[in-house]
Amino acid sequence: MEAGGSDSDGREFKNAQEMWREQIGDEGEADKKTQWYRDGVAYWEGVEASVDGVLGGYGQVNDADIKGSEAFLNTLLHERFDGAGRNQHLVALDCGSGVGRITKNLLIRYFNEVDLLEPVSHFLDAARESLSQEYVASNMHKATNFYCVPLQEFTPDAGRYDVIWIQWCIGHLTDDDFVSFFKRAKVGLKPGGFFVLKENIARNGFVLDNEDRSITRSELYFKDLFRQCGLHLYKIKDQKGLPEELFAVKMYALTTDVPKKVYKTRSKAQTNRPGIIK
Ligand SMILES: C[S@@+](CC[C@H](N)C(=O)[O-])C[C@H]1O[C@@H](n2cnc3c(N)ncnc32)[C@H](O)[C@@H]1O
Repeated sequence: MEAGGSDSDGREFKNAQEMWREQIGDEGEADKKTQWYRDGVAYWEGVEASVDGVLGGYGQVNDADIKGSEAFLNTLLHERFDGAGRNQHLVALDCGSGVGRITKNLLIRYFNEVDLLEPVSHFLDAARESLSQEYVASNMHKATNFYCVPLQEFTPDAGRYDVIWIQWCIGHLTDDDFVSFFKRAKVGLKPGGFFVLKENIARNGFVLDNEDRSITRSELYFKDLFRQCGLHLYKIKDQKGLPEELFAVKMYALTTDVPKKVYKTRSKAQTNRPGIIK
């Protein structure tokens, strides 16, 4: 990624390579990269296991977020699984699930099974607790597996998932691990399955968060990584109704097959602002 970026303290970087070299070192410096991931998880280990906690104190955006995600998911399920989908046993994976907010408010209503992946154990425990209370009576829709691992160490079972949902967590992965995660995760999709990536978007280049050790990438940065993953952009949508001071948020539907048409909504120009959702 050639464009320059900055960090949360206002420091400028010439390009992403310069930033990554400083953060995780040159190839072979495994210790520095391990530390990057340790610091990211340590940050979240210090956060309360609640919706407000996983949304960085912006718990009030939950409703708008879920509403936007539901409209996007509905369209995708209709287009990709119409007909057969209605009688199909649908399975989803909620990546970086936190306390299970997205599974509980959205995924569990559409999928017969949802697996959750989250490296912070007190978040995953809270998810298990809240989902078992809610759905203990239903054998038709349930949270099945709770994986306490980070994305960079996860390989899904082959052909298990219709949808792999990744929201507000991919910024913790380095570029190399981003690409290798999606390459491994592709194998976890059923035929016709797809990824939904929902993320904060930097206006240009990237913004490094020194506090939680994550980066917010620009649309161009994401598209370059999607290309390296061998993924195709099936649909893009802007999330509406979030507070002005937050980053813009986009939803990307990504497929392994070449889509017939890419649908795009008009994108809103927005500046990088410090109050991001963590
Ligand atoms: C902003 S919260 C979002 C949680 C959830 N996706 C949601 O929207 O409610 C970021 C989540 O990413 C998780 N996370 C941090 N590093 C991760 C990693 N390497 N792999 C997967 N998840 C990670 C955190 O523990 C935290 O639960």
